[in-house]
Amino acid sequence: MYQLTEDHIMLRNMVRDLAQDKVAPRAAEIDEKAEWPWDIVEALRSADLFGLPFPEQYGGTGTDLLSFIIVIEELCKVCASTGLMIAVQGLGSFPIVIAGNEEQKQRFFPKLASGEHIAAFGLTEPGAGSDAAGTKTRAVRHGDEYLLNGQKNFITHASVASIYTVFASTDPSKGTKGISAFVVESDRPGFKVGKIEHKMGIRASPTGELLFEDCRIPASNLLGKEGEGFKIAMQTLDKSRPGIAAQALGIAQGAIDFAAKYATERIQFGQPISNLQGIQFMLADMETQVAAARELVYKAAVLLQKGDREATKYSAMAKMFASDVAMRVTTDAVQILGGYGYIKEYPVERMMRDAKITQIYEGTNQVQRVVVARAILSKYER
Ligand code: CAA
Repeated sequence: MYQLTEDHIMLRNMVRDLAQDKVAPRAAEIDEKAEWPWDIVEALRSADLFGLPFPEQYGGTGTDLLSFIIVIEELCKVCASTGLMIAVQGLGSFPIVIAGNEEQKQRFFPKLASGEHIAAFGLTEPGAGSDAAGTKTRAVRHGDEYLLNGQKNFITHASVASIYTVFASTDPSKGTKGISAFVVESDRPGFKVGKIEHKMGIRASPTGELLFEDCRIPASNLLGKEGEGFKIAMQTLDKSRPGIAAQALGIAQGAIDFAAKYATERIQFGQPISNLQGIQFMLADMETQVAAARELVYKAAVLLQKGDREATKYSAMAKMFASDVAMRVTTDAVQILGGYGYIKEYPVERMMRDAKITQIYEGTNQVQRVVVARAILSKYER
């Protein structure tokens, strides 16, 4: 079970203040304009928050996964796109954390940890979404280089990232065992960012295509060995899904906090609507669901940290449960605000739009259920 230490609590309080001070005042505007906020990136850099996924010897904070989770949750209470900056700095870097050699860690981590370099994770393709093994992007070795050809889509941080971890097939005849993982820096010849999507939510976070046309990268950018890419991707997602669960938690808690305060101020029938049992019961159900989700998410983080064999299952359960809770809770928050919930003057409609993606990305909640079911059944199958 988890226990928050004094360090966790201090970190949470520091991030809570930063979120109120620097992020909350910008959240509605950057959503409306779909603007990547470099001023907020700077605030997160100054607070050393990009360093969370990295060991101290490479410039990181050397903190545990629970700290990473707590930070994402706090930021997402006011702005889901901002919390996602930290989540995806983890997602894009975890393949190097998991499979990188010493030279690669020394080469990439210091600038990722300082936030000078933003990371992204390139797995999804037009024909390989839930079926990640359907990767068509090809990597062919020529001497000391690999030549990459293909396309990735729906990539968070496309256009702002300078370090992309990319999965490509080095041997299509071998299926998942022919997939390899690479680091592609944004200035490599033959690499470019394609279309940036217009989205329902997380609008301040760019999502777009990566295009590889005879993109040349040094062989020293291969992570692990050829053929290990699919496992690296799966291990990365195990580690990063609680980050999306934390994003969902933050969005949901932010919506409850706003709706509860609003209910005490909104007068109908001559009294605050918070006096009405119908509203009270909704708030009670919302808070209970989020509290239950938080227990699961924090537990998943601790199991992952320990390398527990139940960690894959807990990671998937946490992501699926917390994101389903976030969708229900934000929808109820809009309901409590009534007509005011449906207009952009109040943040709950943004929270409801932002919550939706947490049920879809880093593996749809249907994929999470597949992962959980396989984990249960594997104990009994021969
Ligand atoms: N850890 C280690 N190895 C794993 C693993 C894990 N968690 N899961 C699977 N593997 C291994 C298996 O053991 C197997 O190895 P062997 O062949 O040696 O036995 C191999 O990988 C293939 O596994 P499966 O047979 O289970 O593969 P599958 O094709 O049935 O796929 C899947 C399984 C769970 C559906 C997987 O494709 C999946 O997770 N899909 C969802 C992809 C996803 O989450 N995409 C998100 C993109 S990132 C994103 O969304 C980020 C963002 O924008 C912020």
